[in-house]
Parts: sequence; C-alpha cells; structure tokens
Amino acid sequence: MKPSDEEAGCLVSRGGRLYTRSAAPGIRVYGERLVSFEGVEYREWDPYRSKLSAYLRLGGGPLPFRKDDSVLYLGAASGTTASHVSDMVPEGRVYCVEFSPRTFRELVRNCDRRPNMIPILGDATRPEEYSFVVGSSGVVYSDVAQKRQADILADNMDLFGADRGMVSIKARSEDVTAAPADIFSSSEARLRDRGFRIEDIHSLEPYEMSHAMIYVRRG
Ligand SMILES: C[S@@+](CC[C@H](N)C(=O)[O-])C[C@H]1O[C@@H](n2cnc3c(N)ncnc32)[C@H](O)[C@@H]1O
Repeated sequence: MKPSDEEAGCLVSRGGRLYTRSAAPGIRVYGERLVSFEGVEYREWDPYRSKLSAYLRLGGGPLPFRKDDSVLYLGAASGTTASHVSDMVPEGRVYCVEFSPRTFRELVRNCDRRPNMIPILGDATRPEEYSFVVGSSGVVYSDVAQKRQADILADNMDLFGADRGMVSIKARSEDVTAAPADIFSSSEARLRDRGFRIEDIHSLEPYEMSHAMIYVRRG
C-alpha cells in the first residue's frame, strides 16, 4: 500500500493487514474482524475475499477513491468489496449494480445499514437503463467476471463521465483456452484504443488465479 491511500484515514495498514474505517460501526458484512485503533472502529479487509484488497496487498495503489466520490460499482454481488469502498467514500456514494436477483437480495440487506450504498438491480452491459439513478460518476470499479470486461468498464466510464476506472479481468471469462497473459494484454490494448491511459496493471496471484487488476485514467 502506498502512503497516499492513508491520507484520508479511511484505509490503514497495521501489522501487514489492511483495514477500512467502518462507516457502520458494530456491523459486519461478511464475518470480517472488527478492531479499534485510537477509539475508532476499523474492519479488516481480507485479500482472499476481495480483489481490491489483494491488489493493495500485492503492491498496487494508491486507489482512485476520494472521500466525496460518487463511485459506480459494477458486479457488486452481496457487497463485500463495495462495503469497503463505501467506508472509503464517507462523504460520497457507491452505486452498486448487480444483475442476479438472488444475490441482489443480500446486497439490499447490506445496503440497508449503509446509507451511502445504493443497490441497483441492473445489467452492467446496459448502462443507459440505470443512468437515471446514477447521474454522473467520478470513478467506475468493475468486477463482473463475464465477457468484454474492458469494454464494459469503458462504456460505463463514457456514459457517466468518469475520469478514473478500475477493472478486475478474469481471463477465463473472456476465453478459457487462451493464456491469461494474452487476455490481459488485449484488455490493456482495448482500453488504450478506447482512449484511456493505463496507470497500473497487477496480476492478483496468488490471491486470485488468472486475474489481473487494471487501473485507467481518461486521456
Ligand atoms: C466476481 S463476483 C463480484 C464480487 C464482488 N465484486 C466483491 O468483490 O465483493 C461477479 C458478480 O458480477 C455479477 N455480474 C456478472 N455480470 C453482470 C452484469 N452484466 N451486470 C451486473 N452484474 C453482473 C455476478 O452476478 C456476480 O455477483
């Protein structure tokens, strides 16, 4: 983790573990450990449960989130990682898009306790269908584990005017027969073609096999 992540005090590293300052003290989202540092409650951020935490543990960062950002989160599932993002934007919002109705029900329960997390039952490949809820967004984070992962990020960043974006690329979701390194290079090339600058790319192994995180900026 790089020092600028810690500036807001929302994300801290202690003894080799990562924590986010809890926006909903006393409440666990996925059984994570709650700890107190100097009278403030933090939630341990497990790199085996969250690719964004894995990215930081592997030397990635700083993360693109600012305290008052409007974040569009694609593929929120039940809200494990999205809840940590919500901790990092205490004056902002996290719009959480998920398309599985069953998973969405769990997401809604987790959003109930976190006023800055807004659940959206929607398909990340059809951003125009939730544009009336989201309005604009500074940063898009995408973890949809399906085909066209780079384009899904780019389409959403374009529609919502985001200048920062991160995408977790699961190589096997693009093509089970291709070498993961080739999928990562073609995803990178696609994002460049779409007008984005690659800030960082990191393999997520050993936490997630055949996954890479790509961080882009516009222009
Ligand atoms: C790898 S899981 C996400 C895990 C989650 N980001 C986390 O770290 O807590 C991928 C999720 O994306 C959802 N998903 C896949 N395709 C989607 C799409 N087109 N639109 C919205 N959600 C999608 C799946 O239902 C699944 O819940």
